[in-house]
Amino acid sequence: MFGASGQLGVELVRELKARRYAVQGWDRAAVDITDAAAVENALAQYDPQVVFNAAAYNQVDVAEREPQSAFAVNGLAVRNLAMGCRQVDATLVHFSTDYVFDGTARHPYAEDDPTHPLGAYAVSKLAGELYAQAYLDRALIVRTSGVYGPGGLATARGNFVELMLRLAASRNPIRVVEDHVASPTFAPLLASRTIDLVGKGQSGVFHVGGGTPISWFQFAKMIFEAAGLQPMLLATNEREYRTPARRPKYSALSNGKMERLGLDPMPPLRQALSLYFAERDRVVSGTPAAL
Ligand SMILES: NC(=O)c1ccc[n+]([C@@H]2O[C@H](COP(=O)([O-])OP(=O)(O)OC[C@H]3O[C@@H](n4cnc5c(N)ncnc54)[C@H](OP(=O)(O)O)[C@@H]3O)[C@@H](O)[C@H]2O)c1
Repeated sequence: MFGASGQLGVELVRELKARRYAVQGWDRAAVDITDAAAVENALAQYDPQVVFNAAAYNQVDVAEREPQSAFAVNGLAVRNLAMGCRQVDATLVHFSTDYVFDGTARHPYAEDDPTHPLGAYAVSKLAGELYAQAYLDRALIVRTSGVYGPGGLATARGNFVELMLRLAASRNPIRVVEDHVASPTFAPLLASRTIDLVGKGQSGVFHVGGGTPISWFQFAKMIFEAAGLQPMLLATNEREYRTPARRPKYSALSNGKMERLGLDPMPPLRQALSLYFAERDRVVSGTPAAL
């Protein structure tokens, strides 16, 4: 497992251990996936059956200033992993994004909808998908959206929920776009559904989103309700709130393909959010996890 200390990485490690698999997790300090020799050595030493890549360059706006860095991690490094997997005959499980789409759809995106990335981050993630598929016949690519998990409490980047809580603490008015819709996804559920797909021997592209299309403004409202906070929350839009990167206006993902295989549908977003807050309280209070 590469990228083991990110939001998704920690949940994959936790869930794999809970299901009694032998797991080796490498964070960036242990293996930088842009270093082909380091990837090759790690895989040769461990000889895994399945390789999960939870490592990614996720700074969507910064990527417009440094597209090479985004491409190195999200594109070329996936080539390192795919080539490494070929050598040890392992299955690669790679994660991608709703941002491979341009947001012009009127329905939650299905796996075979045409891709059309709008910026450097999105192009780099699509390149990663292509590298995985170019070198491997049976790679599993899981596209997801707006990931939030308790792992985000320990990372500098955090996640949208933590950003909202920080902004609320600052007591300034909070402006959030209401004209961009996504599928916020709870990291432990993403990890669990992905491992289910691996267990069913699946390959190809799957969408595993949170299951509830929602605007970022409405999601912020839901977060403050769940947290019992009442900051001044104002709706804005992409015209007023300009960002360096273009983003798809609508990038909700359909989980239909996953559900047709018999995997459990995602719970309603409000329920996933309350699971997040329960887990967050546990982490903040220092109570050990029950495995
Ligand atoms: N977060 C989202 O909203 C979102 C949305 C759609 C799709 N996704 C996709 O979902 C997957 C999981 O995302 P996440 O939310 O778990 O991201 P995350 O919390 O930002 O974790 C990414 C991890 O990758 C590590 N990393 C970065 N560059 C690396 C490198 N060169 N070598 C090894 N590790 C490296 C990071 O380490 P450092 O902390 O040291 O940088 C971090 O631990 C990614 O594929 C992402 O693109 C995420």
